Amino acid sequence: MRLRVAVITVVGVAALAIVGAAIWRPALSPVSVPSGFDPALVVKGSQLAAIGDCAVCHVGRDGQAYAGGNPVQTPFGAIYASNITPDPSTGIGTWSEAAFRRAMRDGVDRAGAFLYPAFPYNHYTHVTDADLSALYAFLMTRQPVPAPTPANRLLFPLNIRPIMAGWNLLFLHQGPVPTDPSQSETWNRGAYLVEGLGHCEACHTPHNVLGAEETGHAFTGGVAEGWEGPGLTAATSPAAVAWTADAIDRFLRQGIDNGHAAAAGPMGLVSHDLSGVPEADVRAMASYIASLTSAPDPAHEQQVAQRIAAAQRPPAALDGTPGATIFAGACAGCHGAGAPMMQAGRPSLGLSSAVTAPTPRNATQVILHGLQPQPGEAGPWMPGFAASLDDAQVAAVLSYVRARFTDRPAWTGVEESVHQIRQDKPS
Ligand code: HEC
Ligand code: HEC
Ligand code: HEC
Repeated sequence: MRLRVAVITVVGVAALAIVGAAIWRPALSPVSVPSGFDPALVVKGSQLAAIGDCAVCHVGRDGQAYAGGNPVQTPFGAIYASNITPDPSTGIGTWSEAAFRRAMRDGVDRAGAFLYPAFPYNHYTHVTDADLSALYAFLMTRQPVPAPTPANRLLFPLNIRPIMAGWNLLFLHQGPVPTDPSQSETWNRGAYLVEGLGHCEACHTPHNVLGAEETGHAFTGGVAEGWEGPGLTAATSPAAVAWTADAIDRFLRQGIDNGHAAAAGPMGLVSHDLSGVPEADVRAMASYIASLTSAPDPAHEQQVAQRIAAAQRPPAALDGTPGATIFAGACAGCHGAGAPMMQAGRPSLGLSSAVTAPTPRNATQVILHGLQPQPGEAGPWMPGFAASLDDAQVAAVLSYVRARFTDRPAWTGVEESVHQIRQDKPS
């Protein structure tokens, strides 16, 4: 009896020790705010930060760069992006480079607490030492902003950070992005940027119930802040015309490709950031993504061109429908045949994946909230109709656009879907 108790105790203590070792991370010593960085390293870091979209999530509540406080909405609750300015008390001013590297690679903060993967460290873990040094130099030379990060609003038990040790064990795959010697140097550079800093999969790959990207389904389509990140693979891309490396390059760098559509919603912010990145790097990402999609098929493209030409004149069957009336009044001035915007060579709605996609989600977001360039910048602009059209009217114009501009089956449950999307926060 006593022996059994002893055995159970020993096993219990050993198990606790193993769990303890798995969830315990040491605090790393604070340093005084580092300085004296090579300006060239800082410039390189700024370009890498743009590829990583650090500024998008870490924007301050009053818009100050990197001051944090912006809630990243997840199915499990809101996680506030931290202050990553070098402010010593509320930011990362006391973080050594080793502490920064550990956060980016292991998802553990300076004090040893686990971070949540709303911070895409599952991708940043692939970033090289040299690139992390540049990012560190860039962040440490930003304007320090004293701004405490609000506490997360997460449901029990997810508010217990050590739980993430288990998540990491299952889903954090560390190490460099493998090089494929059969592919070009450009392609390999693209793979490194897309899989690592670019974290493109975060929005373009489906997530499982634990919030991790599903293995084996990379780039088959995901969700992002109430939008859908379209599939980018040959089998899943909704695009009417196959994406080429040139088209993706334009879309990423200029925010619009006339053979497809404008970058909208969360993708608008991604392409806005990429507009300042060295062209060769964007080109490399485009070349990698293009290798996932199908090669263009001239016969198919001919058919799409014919159908789009036919859509210039709306089919008689749609005459007098509520959608036709709304389109004529609210949309045709920009999207109708002969509209100045169309004569300037802008894409037909039939080329937009928002209109050809299996669900009306992205098209609904565009109609409700419109498209706005970043303050003070030029770019495609469309008014939002959330205040002027009700759910039934938005649904009617969606169904009309789908029927007129594409040969895809009608969407179902459109009005309910519009109603639900209207409750989402605009992004
Ligand atoms: C998709 C949104 C998102 C992006 C993009 C993002 N972060 Fe974050 N980051 C977060 C969130 C949310 C947290 C807080 C996580 C938590 O509380 O566990 C965070 C935390 C951090 C932390 C830990 C700070 C601390 O005080 O604990 C660092 C360092 C960091 N991010 C750096 C970066 C860098 C560098 C980039 C760009 C390469 C970046 N982040 C891009 C969302 C993001
Ligand atoms: C924060 C989420 C998010 C991230 C990160 C993201 N995307 Fe997107 N992406 C979207 C959404 C949403 C759309 C659909 C709206 C649109 O077409 O602009 C989209 C659309 C696209 C499209 C057009 C697809 C089509 O058929 O119209 C391409 C190409 C694309 N993304 C490439 C990328 C690449 C490359 C990266 C990484 C550098 C990336 N995305 C990162 C959310 C994201
Ligand atoms: C003032 C001009 C204007 C009006 C009015 C307008 N749009 Fe747009 N719309 C744009 C611009 C600009 C784009 C971006 C693509 C481009 O530049 O060609 C766009 C894009 C779109 C897209 C594709 C999204 C993308 O990623 O490019 C859809 C769908 C759309 N509009 C639907 C509508 C509908 C439906 C209406 C009427 C309810 C409407 N628009 C009214 C200017 C307009």
